[in-house]
Amino acid sequence: MTPRVEWRVKSGAWHSLAEQRQAAYSLLAEVVGAAVTVDHDAAGAPFLPDHPELHVSISHCPTAVAAAVAQGRNIGIDIESRRRIDPSLVMRVCIPDEVAAIQAAADPTMAFLRFWTRKEAVLKCRGTGIKGFGSMLEAASPTDCTLHDIDTLLPDTVASVALANECPKPDKSSSQTPKLQA
Ligand SMILES: CC(C)(COP(=O)(O)OP(=O)(O)OC[C@H]1O[C@@H](n2cnc3c(N)ncnc32)[C@H](O)[C@@H]1OP(=O)(O)O)[C@@H](O)C(=O)NCCC(=O)NCCS
Repeated sequence: MTPRVEWRVKSGAWHSLAEQRQAAYSLLAEVVGAAVTVDHDAAGAPFLPDHPELHVSISHCPTAVAAAVAQGRNIGIDIESRRRIDPSLVMRVCIPDEVAAIQAAADPTMAFLRFWTRKEAVLKCRGTGIKGFGSMLEAASPTDCTLHDIDTLLPDTVASVALANECPKPDKSSSQTPKLQA
């Protein structure tokens, strides 16, 4: 049987980070198909103590949330909606080929956010957060995972998923943060 890999996005309008988070966890529960208790490891990566065979990832922004589940493999998801981008950020996190593609794009802001979601999806898939990049300028073309650009069907919203080619996450040990239920 093919191992399960699934992701979903949902639009909304949440006023606080707590609301966004709750919406993302509810979406995760929908994808899992059961109520979930979410814990985080020491690096902040989410995991489900009651479903150790599933690797999960979530992302939230003010107008959309995303959740991903993979059986036996690390997964990372990131979703972003249009926002003002400081040009210096582009130079800090994109390699020259990416900068050129952004500058040539019909919509440079969304072109940048596409690269951004790919990079953050990779960071989450690796489970290391920002330290997962050897350099902020690492290209969004990893060899340890496969990237998928998601068609969110939402205006001004891009999302990407990174699915590890192999290498399951090591066992998680709970952080000291409270567990959250959805
Ligand atoms: C992990 C990280 C990438 C999250 O990014 P974000 O855009 O701020 O927020 P998102 O809503 O997309 O994702 C947040 C979720 O990521 C997950 N997350 C946090 N740390 C994680 C880690 N080490 N590994 C995997 N997932 C992680 C959590 O589930 C978190 O939500 P929760 O705390 O409510 O459960 C962030 O902690 C980080 O390191 N940001 C760096 C930002 C940056 O400069 N990126 C440059 C890209 S080149």
